[in-house]
Amino acid sequence: MRLSLRFVVPLLLALGLLGYGVVPLVDRMILGWFVRDLDVRATLVANNARERAHDLFRGHDRRKLLQYFSRLTEDQRVFAVAYCPADGSAPVATASLPNNIHCADLKNAAKSPPRVLASPSGPVLVSVRSIADDGQPIGELVLVHDLSIVARRSAETRKYIFYLFVGLGFTIALITVIIAQLSWRGWVHGLRAVVRGEGLLRPGGALEPPELRPIARDVRALIRELETARRARDEDQVAWAPETLRTVLHDDLRGQEVIVVSNREPYIHERAAGRVRVTRPASGLVTALEPVMRACSGTWIAHGGGSGDRETVDRHDRLDVPPPPETPAYQLRRVWLTEQEESGYYYGFANEGLWPLCHIAHVRPVFRSADWEQYAKVNAAFAKAAHEEARSDDPIVLVHDYHLALVPRMLREMMPAATIITFWHIPWPNPEAFAICPWREELLDGLLGSSILGFHTQFHCNNFVDTVERLIEARVDRELFSVTHKGALTSVKRYPISVEWPSSVAASVGTVDCCRAEVRRRHGLPEGQALGVGIDRLDYTKGIEERLRAVERLLEMRPEWVGRFTFVQIGAPTRARIEQYQQYDERVRALAGRLNERFAEKDRPPPVVLCIQHHQPEQVYEYYRAADVCMVTSLHDGMNLVAKEFVSARDDERGVLILSQFTGASRELPEALIVNPYDTDQCATALHVALSMPAADQRARMRLMRGLVREFNVYRWAGRMLLDAAHMRRRDRVLERWA
Ligand code: F6P
Repeated sequence: MRLSLRFVVPLLLALGLLGYGVVPLVDRMILGWFVRDLDVRATLVANNARERAHDLFRGHDRRKLLQYFSRLTEDQRVFAVAYCPADGSAPVATASLPNNIHCADLKNAAKSPPRVLASPSGPVLVSVRSIADDGQPIGELVLVHDLSIVARRSAETRKYIFYLFVGLGFTIALITVIIAQLSWRGWVHGLRAVVRGEGLLRPGGALEPPELRPIARDVRALIRELETARRARDEDQVAWAPETLRTVLHDDLRGQEVIVVSNREPYIHERAAGRVRVTRPASGLVTALEPVMRACSGTWIAHGGGSGDRETVDRHDRLDVPPPPETPAYQLRRVWLTEQEESGYYYGFANEGLWPLCHIAHVRPVFRSADWEQYAKVNAAFAKAAHEEARSDDPIVLVHDYHLALVPRMLREMMPAATIITFWHIPWPNPEAFAICPWREELLDGLLGSSILGFHTQFHCNNFVDTVERLIEARVDRELFSVTHKGALTSVKRYPISVEWPSSVAASVGTVDCCRAEVRRRHGLPEGQALGVGIDRLDYTKGIEERLRAVERLLEMRPEWVGRFTFVQIGAPTRARIEQYQQYDERVRALAGRLNERFAEKDRPPPVVLCIQHHQPEQVYEYYRAADVCMVTSLHDGMNLVAKEFVSARDDERGVLILSQFTGASRELPEALIVNPYDTDQCATALHVALSMPAADQRARMRLMRGLVREFNVYRWAGRMLLDAAHMRRRDRVLERWA
């Protein structure tokens, strides 16, 4: 509207001024036409009347002359007629002759042009023609024409000119506004493309719209500048710490609030034996995000699934965390789910459907319509909670994982200006595998509501983009790695997740020697017993069976380790209502039992110790520090933070990591002993190599791995996402300014 007024108001003003100047000109022109016209008529009338008037005057018949003049005035335009004799005798004039016209004034007027005079009855035109007898002038014939008609015509013309200009003004304004709007849209669209880096190239190769070319150059230069500044900043930050993250939030995001949405909550309150106890769940997501939230503050929205969760929130379902005795740093907002919702959304669609779909672990996904309905309903509840928690209309929302794939689109509709960063914590399969899901389009559409969509590895980014290209209508830019869907752009990026550095747990755990002594005491392991650990949720993707088979094979291949090596497997119970998990639990227990029976040695500890129960982070840390070798043998894993946690816990630069090639972590930690968990002999050999590795080799490998985890810690992971979000917001602001 403002844009239209900018065109219309000056246009109408200019036309008004033009009209104001044109009207007197037109008036004068019309008068000139009439005067000329009447003068011609006067000549005609005079020529006709001249002889008759001459005769009548010579016969001194003044009465007849007057009668003749009166007849002439019957013509409505001839107002009065008079005869002025040259000898000075009394003139003969009709009674209508205006009394300001005198014969004395008209002497020799026959040679001059007609005159316009004012009369009591309005303007009149006076034409004078001389009458001669034998070449001697004997008088003047005076014809007075009524000019009031000219005044009337002039008024009418002025009215028409006014309407003409108004009509013209509106027509021109309308056409201008339409053209301006169309061009404007084209320019804004073109500029958006430039700012987003999509370029102005059309399939035909022509730059468009051409009028943007000079501006496009400036915009690109500006974007390059911003990008260079951001990169320089990113690269300068070798040591990302909570403080760096806070600076990013303060400087680059102008103190914007951060809202995190995930299924799993960072603190679970459980009521048992008459009291409420708080625990930290075994979750890679929580391990990574909790330190980030401590640094950033803000609100974390998650499912309140603990039996004591409702008792510990305020009337808005919020509580400050971390709980006492620690100092609160951020807010937890709990979302409540009914039994039916949790069963359909979490156990059903998310963990019987999407989880096996995305992991190549040879478990068939199960998709049920009823589960999908609950999934969509619960996603809407999470989106609503995030919307309620937002204090501005453009918050930064971090949506996490496969449980909440529909939330980004829902949020985009509720808060179009929000910056939505979605992180997919598990692998993304190839398009053929993903296409199994009956709700594939809905899931893709949901995720593409995000501004930024993150995966751990480039391989998963590639798979996602391939899936989009194959399954839905969207434009994929492989150079920038972005997808444009429903007119909005989602940037698809690799952000390898990590752990906090240094670990906050370290402070509450003893030295490596103390940890070793404590673990040995706990499991009755003698001094000198080699110790391997595996720490996982009891999940079929983690390759725990394969790991135990590798232990078995080691003892077969290298009997010298029988009785001298113990493998402690910590298995956090997980998703226990799902049949596949129950069966997995049984299989793991049976395998451990069989192994212990087979390799039992009198007075020696068993080869496998299975601890299937939840452990707090401090206890887990103790195992990491006590171990000679840590085994991570996932069959498929987005990243696997156990590997990075083990490295972070070993400030003594000892211990060996055996790492599955099918984890995201294997791309970043090549100094680990990389294995194929399906190759039992290879894993057994790796175990032997690890247990026999000289201290110097252990140190060299551990030092490199620690260097990487220190540099690429979780603050950098979150910081890079937030910097990209800030960059995107700045770019949008530039765009707004241009528009
Ligand atoms: O590793 C994938 C993941 O979904 C994490 O994001 C999550 O924290 C973890 O598995 C634990 O799963 P759950 O929340 O079902 O216990």
